[in-house]
Amino acid sequence: MSPTATMIEHQIVGWLATLAGYGAGAGGTLTSGGTEANFTAMLAARNSVLPNAWEEGLGADPPVVVYGEHAHYAVTRAIGQLGIGRRRGISIPSRDYRINVDLLVGVLDRLREEGKRIMAVVATAGTTATGAFDDLEAIGSICDERGIWLHVDAAHGASALLSSRPPRALSGLRHSRSLAWDPHKMMLLPLATGMVLTREEGDLERAFAQQAPYLFHAGKSTRIIDQGIRSFQCSRRADVLKLWFVIQRFGSEGLGRLYDHLCNTAQLLHDAIDERDDFENLHQPESNILCFRYLGAAGKREAGSGANDRDRQRVDDLNRELRPRYNREGTGWITATVLDGRPVLRVTMMNPRTGEAHVRALLDGLAAKAKEIESS
Ligand SMILES: Cc1ncc(COP(=O)(O)O)c(C=O)c1O
Repeated sequence: MSPTATMIEHQIVGWLATLAGYGAGAGGTLTSGGTEANFTAMLAARNSVLPNAWEEGLGADPPVVVYGEHAHYAVTRAIGQLGIGRRRGISIPSRDYRINVDLLVGVLDRLREEGKRIMAVVATAGTTATGAFDDLEAIGSICDERGIWLHVDAAHGASALLSSRPPRALSGLRHSRSLAWDPHKMMLLPLATGMVLTREEGDLERAFAQQAPYLFHAGKSTRIIDQGIRSFQCSRRADVLKLWFVIQRFGSEGLGRLYDHLCNTAQLLHDAIDERDDFENLHQPESNILCFRYLGAAGKREAGSGANDRDRQRVDDLNRELRPRYNREGTGWITATVLDGRPVLRVTMMNPRTGEAHVRALLDGLAAKAKEIESS
């Protein structure tokens, strides 16, 4: 990457690290996205617990990684890629779609009794399924007390730091040793603009402890500006220029307003669903994501206490079929996921021009399509 882009990247990494609550020793690099950012952070965590892994491999008893049930697949992918072994990844069940902190403590206690080394606890700020924020204050304090590396996958949710009313959980980011942040998700940017930050820049450098005299020229005593020593990639696009541009154009206030606006639009959808009998919300929106369900022509009564297994199966089948059938029509586009074992509809508000009329049209369009399916 060019010297100019390198200096801009240092400036922006420093600024965003400060927003996250990191101190002057923090470092980071832009990445191709959240997947690479999570991988890089977990490589740094692996290196912290197994400093010889680069030279000697993992040995017979690799450490374990503990993460929430709703972690993005990038986390388990990294566990596999890093040679830890998928079976050494431990998933903690959720309460209200967030890591159940009591269960986390129980698992950490058990691992301590068994004498297992813990490479990292991975929490999420803005889960992919529901946009929920794990309780980073509680999880962070637990990790601090036990000397465990806390990595936060904030690929989706870190942009809330720019909001005028950021989620309370984000204050707990200061406990983390590393975090992933995707400006290409909530900062109006096209792909690819991801970022990994570490509280100590040296952690990132040790993750990539290689010599390459044809590229890395600086001596050992000074801080090396070259980002190549901190990045998974070698030749790399100057994606930071997009980020620099959007900050120059809108400022942190403008980007914060954008974040709030997208969250408000998710709230509009939530409120419109509450007014109707034929849909139900599955959670309060914590960000710009909402999961909901179509209940069938008989409405909420059918899904209530009198619902039997056949009713539930019918509602599940309908919701599974509804998304592809609606999207095929071309009037709108939604996503879907599975929550608590059941198929649900899911919307991520990304377009600042989406407003109340679109939200109502979406629900009317889905209901019309569902009735078509029901009567066919
Ligand atoms: C929480 C979370 N982490 C990681 C990722 C992966 O990010 P990317 O697609 O930029 O690699 C996503 C993508 O949706 C995500 O929502």
